[in-house]
Amino acid sequence: MAQISEEIINDIRKRTDIVEVISRYLPLTKKGKNYFGVCPFHDDHSPSMSVSPEKQIFTCFSCGATGNVFTFVSDYEHISFIEAVRLLGSKLGYNLEHSTRIENPHQKDLEIYKLATKFYQNNINTALGKNAVKYLEDRKIDRETMKKFEIGLAIQKVSLTDYLKSKNVSLDKMIELGITNNTGNDTFVNRIIFPLYDLQGNIVAFSGRIYNTKDSSKYLNTKETPLFKKRQLLYNYHRAHEHLRKNDYIIVMEGFMDVIRASTVGINNCVATMGTSFTKEHANLVKKMTDNIILCFDGDEAGEEATTSAIKVLEEINVEPKIIRLEDYKDPDEYIINKGKDAFLNKIANAISVIDFKMQLLRHGKNLKDINDISSFLEETIKELTKTKDDIVVELTLRKMAQEFNISYDTLYQKYQQYNKPKEVNQPRPKTIVQNNDQNKTQYEKAELSLIYYMLKDSEVINIVEKKVGYFPTPTIRYLSNEIIAYYHKYGQINEADFISYISDKEELKQALSNILSLNNRPEFNKEQTNLMEIDDYIISINKYVKDKKIKELEQSLRNESDMRKQLEIINEISKIKGVKLC
Ligand code: UTP
Ligand code: MN
Repeated sequence: MAQISEEIINDIRKRTDIVEVISRYLPLTKKGKNYFGVCPFHDDHSPSMSVSPEKQIFTCFSCGATGNVFTFVSDYEHISFIEAVRLLGSKLGYNLEHSTRIENPHQKDLEIYKLATKFYQNNINTALGKNAVKYLEDRKIDRETMKKFEIGLAIQKVSLTDYLKSKNVSLDKMIELGITNNTGNDTFVNRIIFPLYDLQGNIVAFSGRIYNTKDSSKYLNTKETPLFKKRQLLYNYHRAHEHLRKNDYIIVMEGFMDVIRASTVGINNCVATMGTSFTKEHANLVKKMTDNIILCFDGDEAGEEATTSAIKVLEEINVEPKIIRLEDYKDPDEYIINKGKDAFLNKIANAISVIDFKMQLLRHGKNLKDINDISSFLEETIKELTKTKDDIVVELTLRKMAQEFNISYDTLYQKYQQYNKPKEVNQPRPKTIVQNNDQNKTQYEKAELSLIYYMLKDSEVINIVEKKVGYFPTPTIRYLSNEIIAYYHKYGQINEADFISYISDKEELKQALSNILSLNNRPEFNKEQTNLMEIDDYIISINKYVKDKKIKELEQSLRNESDMRKQLEIINEISKIKGVKLC
């Protein structure tokens, strides 16, 4: 298959006008230099999306969506980035039907994981796989499901390491990919193997479950690698994505077994966090899929806590999920097995609001016949209510409380207004994601974002950063900066719109960049000229942070060190960083 080079992608972008393309999908009105329209990526009626003919990018100052012409078409049409390139290219006479993008640098590694998966799948069909099949069948996982989720088996007697050696994969590579451990043996032994997928559906790791042995860890996962970062992946994302259209919903679960179970009864729009931690990255991913997010974590207390913290993470990006609690059942898997598909669909249809969920929690441990307890319950609930943006939810909740505790609605409403006041006065409209996050950002984090922003505007800043910034403390920003520098060295120039294409297959970078590009909406950033003094301040603030952090770490190790010679070495190092000469 021929490959589409970065040059062709950039050529198509330069010859395609973003204003003209977006106008085909929705009406745009010119105001000043830019065009404005109603953003199609969140539920809105006011024109919060701006399109810049000069920069050839769009940004929504309400939901934070941003990108170039390809990402707009790809998100709007629910097609891949490269399909959008083909579509827009064909209008210019390019015939890219049979072309793919330049090979993913990790292609070879992905091939190895594929080979490994086939090996594991094959094991399950051998005589040695009988017990594993029985285990799965007892759990009502049939052959079809095993095939769909590519479930396999690691057997003690047959080694994947040996098999891959015969396919000319080096031992170092296998260790690097987490397939083989440092002693040269298979990582997974006697475990049922579930391949884990990245957002595009490539296999990038495995999770192995015990089934016929005792072991302290029920599931063992491949170690984290550049391809496999649990906090950035959602199991089944690639499939769930296909089942979604705007106004649909996505269900977030803890375990991939839960997702697999739901799929056996035809519910395919589920993803799993693979543990109880629902990260900022997960939140951004699901938000991009749909506004209707349902959290369905395990029925136990840990699941309840996970729900509370996921709600917080989603609140940060202005998303209000619905919640399913399973009460007497351990997890969605057990619920569906015991109660069936219809009961679960019923749960989905009756998923409760955040405020209802929080009220359930607030009821815990209170005697709601006692006046003091009632009063604190009402007060706590009303405080929570001020976080809801939906007026109908506010009114309905207050009315319900009024009825339950036999208090007048007006009294409750007054109380609500008391708590709600300061927020309304202080908050400028529209509330943007960037402004929201900004309040919590420390100085060096702001400096990092600002520097990346200016690197994309002015190549002089790239040169300065290369010379003066030793190290960006935030890993994603470091990665982004490295990519910008690499791009600049390769093409000799850079602009926001082309860079968006360049990183379009790297979800982590796309998300980080979208936050940075939203700075375009802020007058203090959108200036004609870069102010080099300001750049210097940012650099000083980052370097200072890195230095202070290093010193703190060294001081800590000094405290833990008993060997005098080593203590001296550490003191020397600290002095060097502080720039103090020891006599
Ligand atoms: P659960 O303990 O809820 O597993 O962990 P489960 O989905 O019910 O699995 P079964 O039914 O016992 O087979 C939820 C998720 O947490 C991760 C796994 O990704 C799992 O899907 N996990 C759990 C681990 O990584 N390691 C463990 O030891 C346990
Ligand atoms: Mn389970």
